[in-house]
Parts: sequence; structure tokens; C-alpha cells
Amino acid sequence: MTLLSVENLSIQFETPDGLVHAVNDVSFQIGRGETQALVGESGSGKSQIALSILGLLAKNARTSGKILYNGRDLLAMSTRELNKIRAKEIAMIFQDPMSSLNPYMTIERQLNESLELHEGLKGDAARQRVIEVMDAVQIPDAKNRLRSYPHEFSGGMRQRIVIAMALLCNPKLILADEPTTALDVTVQAQIMRLLEDIRRDFDTSILLITHDLGVVAGACEDTLVLYSGKVMERAGTRALFAEPQHPYTRGLLRAVPNIHDDDGELHAIPGQPPNTMRALTGCPFAPRCVDAVDACFATVPELTGETRQRACIRPVEELT
Ligand SMILES: Nc1ncnc2c1ncn2[C@@H]1O[C@H](COP(=O)(O)OP(=O)(O)OP(=O)(O)O)[C@@H](O)[C@H]1O
Ligand SMILES: [Mg+2]
Repeated sequence: MTLLSVENLSIQFETPDGLVHAVNDVSFQIGRGETQALVGESGSGKSQIALSILGLLAKNARTSGKILYNGRDLLAMSTRELNKIRAKEIAMIFQDPMSSLNPYMTIERQLNESLELHEGLKGDAARQRVIEVMDAVQIPDAKNRLRSYPHEFSGGMRQRIVIAMALLCNPKLILADEPTTALDVTVQAQIMRLLEDIRRDFDTSILLITHDLGVVAGACEDTLVLYSGKVMERAGTRALFAEPQHPYTRGLLRAVPNIHDDDGELHAIPGQPPNTMRALTGCPFAPRCVDAVDACFATVPELTGETRQRACIRPVEELT
């Protein structure tokens, strides 16, 4: 069953220098209890997609398309209606954990405030729920650590607290924006395992946003690859890794450092990042693509395919 359906979403920003085309005609669905990954390099539009779902885009943003949550269009909702959905139905884990924690308030007070605001829970009931979520995110000795301030926790523990905050109201969907970026690899793996446990135990759907293909590998059934705000490829994660079918995805996978590479070189994709100040007139990746032909610059490729999709006019067999 589809929980969230993003349909032909485009996001533009009005700036003194002109329109920024941040997200271009993006569509995807997330089913109940599914994890969907959104991968792309810095500036590819990942965070703006998440923010648009919760109606949190900056004032200079213009959107088109639909974001259907249980069949209702979030883009068309008033702030009042959205407020009923924020935190309770859809919760967000923001890119920087410290930005969602107040350094001057104990963890207990922050979690309590959130519970009171969204659920009207106070006193013992609130305390009970707070300890429940602290346990769910596996913070050792939660009861005694509630009176601590954010800076008294390690980065990994702080990220767990932010996840606990997202869990407080039992959301159906969690938008996790780079939940592991600031952490070392071991802690990264722990946080990913935690998100997987949450998905399984609470049947929560997760939109996992990351620039790191390594994070996605073991964690998501389905991955969507963005470039310059446009979907380049969408496939089951295993299939995507085993057999990438878009030149950009191929380039990305080659750029993942590999210990078995004996030349020891880093294979970055040559060329400049895309210019979002111009509307798309062709494939945004064409200027950097080793497989590009003249036609790639002339028409915006459509996303085609059933179980797996790609936006590329070149036949897969002919790619280098
Ligand atoms: N208020 C705004 N006004 C103008 N441009 C904006 C605004 N907010 C975002 N953008 C632009 O939108 C584009 C997409 O930004 P977004 O934050 O979604 O990138 P991202 O994929 O999350 O990158 P990162 O991995 O660095 O977090 C960028 O080019 C950014 O500069
Ligand atoms: Mg971002």
C-alpha cells in the first residue's frame, strides 16, 4: 500500500539572479514499512524534497506537482492542516543533529516539550513515553541520563536522541536527512541498524537521504539517484549496485573508494557540477557524460521502465 506518492514534483527558488531550478519533475512512491533511499551529490535537491513534504521550504520557493500522503495533497494543505501531520504522522531527522537540539535544555525537557505540544501528554505518562523511546534507540541507562544536556553526549548518542525525538509521536513516515554523515563508520553502521530495527518493529516507512552510496548498500530496498534535481535512475538497491544502467550511476559507483583497486586512484567524475540557474534543455549530466551524443544535449530524457527506471536515451548495451 502506498503511503506517500510524490508526483512530478518541481521546486524552484526565486533569487535576485534569477530562478534556481532545484528539483525537476521528480516522482517516487513509498509503501508502508518501506525504506526508499534518495542519493545524489551536494546540491542535487535531496533536502529540498524532504522539506517540501513537510511544507518547510523557504519563502522564495515555488512548487508544482503533488505530494500525496494517504491520498491527500500535502502541497495544497494549509499550515493548520500540516501541523496535524508534522511530527505525528511524518517526522523529520534534520541534516545537523545540533540544529534540532537546544544546547541549554536537558534532553528530558526537550522531549517532554515535544510530547506536550503534539500529544498533550504530561507528567507520568510523558515520562513513561520518553523512557520508552530512549530505550527504543538503545541509549544505555536512559533513566539516569535524561537530565543531561546535549553536549554531554557523543555524536552518535546525540543522533540517537534526535531519532528518539522523531519517534516520540509514533510517526508513520520518517524523513532521515543524512542521519549518519557526521559520524565515523562504526557508529554509522549502528545508526543504520537502529533505523532498520525501527522500521521493522514499528512498521515505519523511511525516506533515507544521503550522498553516500555506501550507507545505502545494505539498508534500503529501493534507491533513487538524483542529479541536478532530476531522477537519473531508480532501481532495487541490489540491482542498482550489481548492474547500474545510467552513466551517472556508473560514475558514482566507480568513485566509491575500493580497497581492491590496485591502482590506488580515486575515480572522480570529471567536469563541473551542474548549473541550476538554467532550466533543463537536455540531460543535465550530458556535459560530464562519457557516453553522451549530440541528442543528449537537445532533449530532456524521460524516466522510462517498469521495475527499474532510467532517464537516458542511450541503450544500456552501448554504455562504456
Ligand atoms: N532558499 C533558497 N534560495 C535559493 N536557492 C536555494 C534555496 N534553498 C536551496 N537552494 C538551492 O537548491 C539546491 C538544492 O539544495 P538542497 O539543499 O536540496 O541540496 P542537497 O542535495 O540536500 O545537498 P547537500 O548534500 O549538500 O545537503 C541547491 O542548489 C541550493 O543552493
Ligand atoms: Mg541536504
